[in-house]
Amino acid sequence: MSSVQASNPSNPPVRTVASTQSEMTEIILPNDTNILGSLLGGRLMHFIDLTGAMAAYRHSRTHVVTAAMDHIDFIRPVHLGDLLTLKSSVNRAFSTSMEVGVKVWAENTRTASVSHVASAYLVFVAIDQEGRRQRVPELLPETPNEIRRYEDALRRREHREAESARRKAAGHATSDQETGADVKP
Ligand SMILES: CC(C)(COP(=O)(O)OP(=O)(O)OC[C@H]1O[C@@H](n2cnc3c(N)ncnc32)[C@H](O)[C@@H]1OP(=O)(O)O)[C@@H](O)C(=O)NCCC(=O)NCCS
Repeated sequence: MSSVQASNPSNPPVRTVASTQSEMTEIILPNDTNILGSLLGGRLMHFIDLTGAMAAYRHSRTHVVTAAMDHIDFIRPVHLGDLLTLKSSVNRAFSTSMEVGVKVWAENTRTASVSHVASAYLVFVAIDQEGRRQRVPELLPETPNEIRRYEDALRRREHREAESARRKAAGHATSDQETGADVKP
């Protein structure tokens, strides 16, 4: 994909982090869990992707696709019946991409105890209806935490680019050998 379109004319050139903040709450049902009643990792990643996309939509006001989801630690299990709350905001906007941070908590509905269960960084790319990349507004970090995340996002982008170049130099980004997909069951 090579062409980059100017940003949507109705978009302001700068948006605040607060204007991108998004939140989703889910109750964990049997369909979301494994046979031991714990939330499936893939289901949690789906919720993270959706909540991250909400912040990216609010920033870009156009279509977005997920370009990358960084390493995720599943810190503790989430159980059947728990209330899962996910919060997201854009950490930094680049040219057509945005890094979004998502943090996830689980609430035990009987004890009311709330614990942090996962965090993730995702990169979304803004596109139009035809799939052409779109420039996104700049992001204005205002609070000390927003400024810290904004600065850290640049370091993570540099790390991602270096890692991607390393994989390309090594041959294939997702070769069978690297993923272990060439191993017969
Ligand atoms: C994401 C996608 C639009 C990037 O298109 P591309 O032509 O490869 O784009 P480029 O390499 O020119 O990079 C475009 C932007 O995306 C960013 N980007 C591309 N791949 C990335 C990756 N793996 N991780 C982080 N950022 C990435 C680049 O840094 C660049 O950002 P900038 O414009 O802010 O500087 C394209 O790869 C795509 O459509 N992927 C499939 C998306 C999808 O279907 N997602 C659902 C998950 S299954």
